[in-house]
Amino acid sequence: MAIVAPSLLSADFLRLEAACTMINQSEAEWFHLDVMDGRFVPNISFGLPIVQAIRKATKKVCDVHLMIVEPEKYIQAFKEAGADVLSVHVEASTHLHRTLQQIRSLGMKAGVAINPHTPLSAIEEVIEETDVFCLMSVNPGFGGQKFIPLTLEKISRLKDMILKKHASALIEIDGGVTLENAGSIVKAGADVLVAGNTVFGSTDPLSTIAQLKNG
Ligand code: DX5
Ligand code: ZN
Repeated sequence: MAIVAPSLLSADFLRLEAACTMINQSEAEWFHLDVMDGRFVPNISFGLPIVQAIRKATKKVCDVHLMIVEPEKYIQAFKEAGADVLSVHVEASTHLHRTLQQIRSLGMKAGVAINPHTPLSAIEEVIEETDVFCLMSVNPGFGGQKFIPLTLEKISRLKDMILKKHASALIEIDGGVTLENAGSIVKAGADVLVAGNTVFGSTDPLSTIAQLKNG
């Protein structure tokens, strides 16, 4: 059974309250919130006020994925906005080890997001400092893209690396997760499935979330 994290990026932004109500009623445990700055990724999404508003509207885990440069400058602000899990990109973090320690010291779970082209060796030395590895299975910036198949093998390798260190970091897969590929993603070793388009594009999102959960 996977943890399901619907991504708000694919919701109707005029009807965020309805999106919250649906997720609150669903079997999803996490709420995935994609923050983009137009610099780290070629798109701008939303920032602190939306995270704050969602925090007030849900008891689910607020899983904030920062696709921004210099993420270390905003750790405190996202804590105050209500993030439970805060993920920074390894590619955007010069002092990743320190950043992860700062996130944990504020009482949040520390996440590291990894772009498709980034080798796993880039995160080998922070496995014990990390609570969630967010493996990007698309190039970040947009919802509704196609899953990159090479990710499956990368999941298994990351799982082995975590087990070898007797660590407990979760593996989260972000991008292009569908009802068709969810089973093989979980089988490869994923713990958390992010789903934007698959959930919000569904005519029956509650049942889609339940199906994703059961792989
Ligand atoms: C992409 C974001 C994802 C996105 C996933 O940059 O990080 O979280 O919302 O959307 P889908 O599931 O539609 O690929
Ligand atoms: Zn994301």
